[in-house]
Amino acid sequence: MTPSDRSEDPAARAAELREIVSHHRRRYYEQDDPEIGDDEYDALFTELETLERDHPELALPDSPTQRVGGTPLDKLTKVQHEQPMLSLANARTEDELRGWTDRMRTHLAREGISDPSFRFVIEPKVDGLAMSLRYEDGVLVRAATRGDGEVGEDVTHNVRTIPDVPLHVPDAPAVLEVRGEIYIKLADFRKVNEKRAARGESTFMNPRNSAAGAIRQLDPKAAKERPLSFWAYGVGVVAASEGAEAEQEGRQGAAGTSASVGEVLGVGGHHATLMWLKERGFPVNDEISVADTVEDALRTCEGWEERRDRLAFEIDGVVVKVDDFELQRRLGSVGRDPRWAIAWKFPPRTAVTLLKDVIWSVGKFGDLHPYAVLEPVNVSGVTVSQATLHNEEDLERKDVRPGDRVIVLRAGDVIPQVVSPAPHEAERDDRQPKPAPPAECPRCGTPTEKPADSVFTRCPNRGGCPGQQWQLLRHYVGRQAMDIEGLGEKQVAQLLEKGLVTNAADLYDLTKEQLLELEGYGEVSASRTVAAIEASKERPFARVLYGVGIEEVGEITGRNLAARFRTIDALRAAQPEQLADTPGVGEKMARIIHERLADPAVGEVFDRLRAAGLQLEVPQAEGDAGDNTLLEGLTAVLTGTLPSLTREDATQRLLAAGARVTSSVSKKTGVVVAGEAAGSKLEKAERLGVPVLDEEGLLRLLREGPSVLAPEEGEDELQPDGQAPDAAVDADSEAGVEAPGD
Ligand code: IVH
Repeated sequence: MTPSDRSEDPAARAAELREIVSHHRRRYYEQDDPEIGDDEYDALFTELETLERDHPELALPDSPTQRVGGTPLDKLTKVQHEQPMLSLANARTEDELRGWTDRMRTHLAREGISDPSFRFVIEPKVDGLAMSLRYEDGVLVRAATRGDGEVGEDVTHNVRTIPDVPLHVPDAPAVLEVRGEIYIKLADFRKVNEKRAARGESTFMNPRNSAAGAIRQLDPKAAKERPLSFWAYGVGVVAASEGAEAEQEGRQGAAGTSASVGEVLGVGGHHATLMWLKERGFPVNDEISVADTVEDALRTCEGWEERRDRLAFEIDGVVVKVDDFELQRRLGSVGRDPRWAIAWKFPPRTAVTLLKDVIWSVGKFGDLHPYAVLEPVNVSGVTVSQATLHNEEDLERKDVRPGDRVIVLRAGDVIPQVVSPAPHEAERDDRQPKPAPPAECPRCGTPTEKPADSVFTRCPNRGGCPGQQWQLLRHYVGRQAMDIEGLGEKQVAQLLEKGLVTNAADLYDLTKEQLLELEGYGEVSASRTVAAIEASKERPFARVLYGVGIEEVGEITGRNLAARFRTIDALRAAQPEQLADTPGVGEKMARIIHERLADPAVGEVFDRLRAAGLQLEVPQAEGDAGDNTLLEGLTAVLTGTLPSLTREDATQRLLAAGARVTSSVSKKTGVVVAGEAAGSKLEKAERLGVPVLDEEGLLRLLREGPSVLAPEEGEDELQPDGQAPDAAVDADSEAGVEAPGD
């Protein structure tokens, strides 16, 4: 934002900042694809905070400033739940599920209800932690953990940082307690662990632990490092007005306030309550369903079980609930468990087996990771013979030793892991000693090091260790990087073994004859692979940067660095402060990247790649005089597939001409470039009157500048330059990289 187009009026500026900060929060938390660095974000945030402090009337409760608590707390405050947070009885078999409905019938018969007809609501039982969110007059005032069901802990400061949790609920009753589950998606969990490993920090055992730990952090800044999600599965206390709350409490009884939830929200049952919540901005699982018979409910449970491994989050069962509030009230609860709900539990995905050995694998940057070699064992249908032990700290904490019988867990699509020794194993007095990280690299024999700021022991033989070489090369040829078909990790291993390559640049000297010497190659596949290597020379600079494997340079950072510096020479000449001026690059990252780029071995790889004909700069866009300002101030969104330009290419050209490229369409979008199978983004652009161009239009825009977008004489509105075909789905991946901040 340039000084000229920012609002001078404090109220308007506050509204503007709220929108900008919220946008960047979403990029960071929901899309994991920040457009700006922490420093820039902090500056915007501070400006908003200052404005709100100076003009308290502008400090709305749903402002993003209200999402992060102030100073870290010493310890969490206890919270007494007004209405206990219940647990669930379990069923594991069809008989047990039928037994549950029989018990409900018997109970209801005693209540004078004979032959009730049940409608069931079936929901995933997400493996996270239960949360109570209290809203007063529609504003989130407190978030508490379940604790023992009676007394939990106040974690409002952290829950405010979760983008899924509404801070403000439109047309809510005076008091509304929403209950649901805080969890972390598997992809987010993996990213968190990758980031932590890259920084030399210990990794988390499982998604649940990671989420639970984050929510109980005292410092919201630490908590916000872990992208948490939330969804709502019910409503606790409600009151139409403050006074009514006490009155309701009086008539709650063991059955809970279901009836009054119905009265206050104007709904008759659980499913309608979930829809009520959804309409007001609470995330509710899309696949929640209803069933009219126990057979149907059972089939739905089995369906979830079958899909379990393909879900984006970890579930440990399915919850079946009676929909009707009146029936729920009559059923009441036994002890801690409501009679009207049951958890269909999946079989555990653990097994016990012998830990034969602990071995160490070498990562891309020399970090040593412990692995368990197991006596092969079947864990719910899959044979497991290796499992991760995460890192040294984890190994130490679990205290598993070769010769122990251990518990192995397979969860989601996460790599199988060793959980702990089997019961009583740790008491044996003939145990072997604790495995320690090796003093020498298991791949190259170089004495290892343990940096003070890392939980990983490292092999310092950068560039020379075949373990690191293999990891770097398989990363380079991988899909996300150079995408060289015909070269997988096995082929790369053979090439290394035969001494034909040691780094990425060597790939370009390979001949077909050399490939034919390897196992598994014939005339055709060898020629194809040589052609695929040749084709990789066309990959844009950003992919090369990412592919070479520089600490801290992921896909997005690679693209941002390429857009900011444009050539490898400029990038290598950049000082840490300049690197830190790139979106998404913090100071620490900048120092590490600078150090790696200064390594002569890394420099040599880039020099040889350039000599081999790879793209080590961003091509000058057609018509771009190199002044990088032709499209300054224009925000573009790409959608669908263009006939000849790749998404990467189009993005790079727009960035090179000074435009910003973002992934979602809003009023502020200057142009949408639409190709084949463009979907919702195109529709939205048309609805908002945002100009739409096809590829040809884009090329004209790059040549002639924004005048291409101006409505022609006599036209009210710009017509799309070329109509993209309609398609039901938006085949988009995130394009989202932005040019350096303006
Ligand atoms: S209902 C009325 N629904 O499971 C019973 N719980 O064993 C209260 N959970 O502590 C819970 N998904 O953390 C309910 N769709 C869902 C759930 C769910 C996960 C957890 C929740 C609770 C535990 C109960």
